[in-house]
Amino acid sequence: MAASKHEAIERNVGLLAILTVLTIAIGGLVEIVPLFFQHSTTEPVKGVEPYSPLRLAGRDIYVREGCYNCHSQMIRPFRAETERYGHYSVAGEFVYDRPFQWGSKRTGPDLARVGGRYSDEWHRVHLNNPRDVVPESNMPAFAWLERPVDASTIEQRMRALTVVGTPYTEEQIKSAPEALKGKTEMDALIAYLQGLGTAIKRVN
Ligand code: HEC
Repeated sequence: MAASKHEAIERNVGLLAILTVLTIAIGGLVEIVPLFFQHSTTEPVKGVEPYSPLRLAGRDIYVREGCYNCHSQMIRPFRAETERYGHYSVAGEFVYDRPFQWGSKRTGPDLARVGGRYSDEWHRVHLNNPRDVVPESNMPAFAWLERPVDASTIEQRMRALTVVGTPYTEEQIKSAPEALKGKTEMDALIAYLQGLGTAIKRVN
């Protein structure tokens, strides 16, 4: 009886495929589903707040300019990484990152804890021409970011984030264009960089 059932499965490709997918799906669900209910992966780390309008605009510029093609934002829990970059990254630091910028390509250094590492002025000089501060750098210059930041869509972008759970209040959304007044894209990008990873203190 058992043998004939086995034979029925092996001889019926459709049934075999369905049962194989089911078996693998159970393995995946057991690993993935609990992550949705664990506080350590769903609750923000103390000090992690939704992005301010200026930092949010900076984050969008970071994505637009493709900084992630050369920079990861994820410190792995290995000694070689924590000694260089600081405390390893934890899930609760990224709850407001949609989409997250973890990445794995490191032409340049990881930026997960770059906040506060340099002055705003250093970043300005570096973004205008990286070779002015790091002579051997092969990072491209981003001098065109010295232009006004687009404030006309910031409310929609914040509203879109509330749909997926970022707790912006109506008041914060309404006052967002005001916060971007007179700011350049460079200002926004630097504000974003200066906040990266600062909720957890650097260990070095
Ligand atoms: C083609 C690859 C490349 C791209 C694209 C790139 N970078 Fe870099 N970045 C590097 C390299 C290489 C370094 C290391 C040398 C240096 O400091 O300039 C670096 C260094 C940095 C540093 C200093 C990090 C530290 O800890 O010293 C910051 C901040 C930075 N990049 C931000 C950015 C931002 C913001 C963008 C997008 C606007 C960007 N990078 C795009 C390659 C890149």
